[in-house]
Amino acid sequence: VSSLNIRSGQGDYSVDFYAEIPSLIEELLKVPHALFAIDEKILQLYPKELAPLLESRPSFPIPATEDEKTLKGVERLAVWLQEQKAIKQSTLVTIGGGIIQDICAFTAHVYFRGIPWMFVPTTLLSMCDSCIGAKCSINLGLYKNQLGTFQSPKRVFIASDFTRTLTGEDVASGYGEILKLMLTGSTEHLAFLEHAIAGTGLRNASLLELIRRSLEVKKRVIEADEYERDLRRILNYGHTFGHALESVTRHEICHGLAAAWGLDLINYISWKRGLLPEGDFKRIHEFIRKNLPFRLKSNIGVHDLISAAQRDKKVADGMVNLVLFAGPGNLRIVKTPFDATLAQQIGDYLEQHNVYR
Ligand SMILES: NC(=O)c1ccc[n+]([C@@H]2O[C@H](COP(=O)([O-])OP(=O)(O)OC[C@H]3O[C@@H](n4cnc5c(N)ncnc54)[C@H](O)[C@@H]3O)[C@@H](O)[C@H]2O)c1
Ligand SMILES: [Zn+2]
Repeated sequence: VSSLNIRSGQGDYSVDFYAEIPSLIEELLKVPHALFAIDEKILQLYPKELAPLLESRPSFPIPATEDEKTLKGVERLAVWLQEQKAIKQSTLVTIGGGIIQDICAFTAHVYFRGIPWMFVPTTLLSMCDSCIGAKCSINLGLYKNQLGTFQSPKRVFIASDFTRTLTGEDVASGYGEILKLMLTGSTEHLAFLEHAIAGTGLRNASLLELIRRSLEVKKRVIEADEYERDLRRILNYGHTFGHALESVTRHEICHGLAAAWGLDLINYISWKRGLLPEGDFKRIHEFIRKNLPFRLKSNIGVHDLISAAQRDKKVADGMVNLVLFAGPGNLRIVKTPFDATLAQQIGDYLEQHNVYR
């Protein structure tokens, strides 16, 4: 699988793909002045693969918890960098999922006003989506992702082999974002996704290629709009109500599954507003129902969902920029009021199509 080059105002960078973990580690050993911050669980699961690195380079274990993704976690890492006598030319290399990514990108951004940062994503979600685009954020008080900045990596190294040890839920979570990006791409992207999982399901031989295609779609969007002024907002497709579901259920389900559910709801609203043919809604609805299902302890109420959506950072004056779906590759940002029509459509969806109980 060939490399991707990402253009960025902070310096262009490449995303390289590796068929196996040992060849990826060999590349990491060539990075000068490298200090490693590694997900604790990865240290436990891959001792043999990591041995050459751990024997010769400084490394710091980080637990992947939302509690660590705070100023306290950033401070712990920064103090370690200081103890290691990190200098402005030192490179912080991160091995882990989205949580470790956010802690490390944030820390690299502020340590000595910025040191180089590289990333080895180990969850499917971080491989197919969050590893490019430079956004990072940490939690503050009771709320998630309140402090943040843009810090692009100097390099990204991907081996889909890391996904073998992920739980089924974490694999499905990644597919929520893959689905979003394939639908943002084109009809061909959607067909490729359906074809890839038709045989052996979510863990299939085309996974590395699916990751590359997802990143390629995201690359097109972020290169056109790195700092989320306009076009980049289409990456929020499915996320307004996905985040609301996460909040209403107090994170009972993982992010990607909530986002996939949010896509389905937004597609339903798009159908009811005359933007999307019924056939397209049903095709994608079936895909989600079959491949990305989940259960909830209790049913969700329309009004809880709407009031959670209204607390989103992106809501202003009672209006929300909904990303509506007019078909693969055809997203529309539409400024929408939280009115009776919207509540009615969400209510109808929950009654007629909400397969998650
Ligand atoms: N910066 C961004 O652009 C961005 C985008 C999306 C999400 N996020 C953030 O990322 C976080 C979620 O990240 P995530 O879903 O990648 O997962 P994660 O970092 O929360 O990890 C999930 C679990 O998988 C474990 N794990 C990681 N790699 C593994 C592997 N190869 N095998 C077995 N277990 C492994 C972790 O230890 C953890 O227990 C959230 O905090 C979210 O806010 C950031
Ligand atoms: Zn997401």
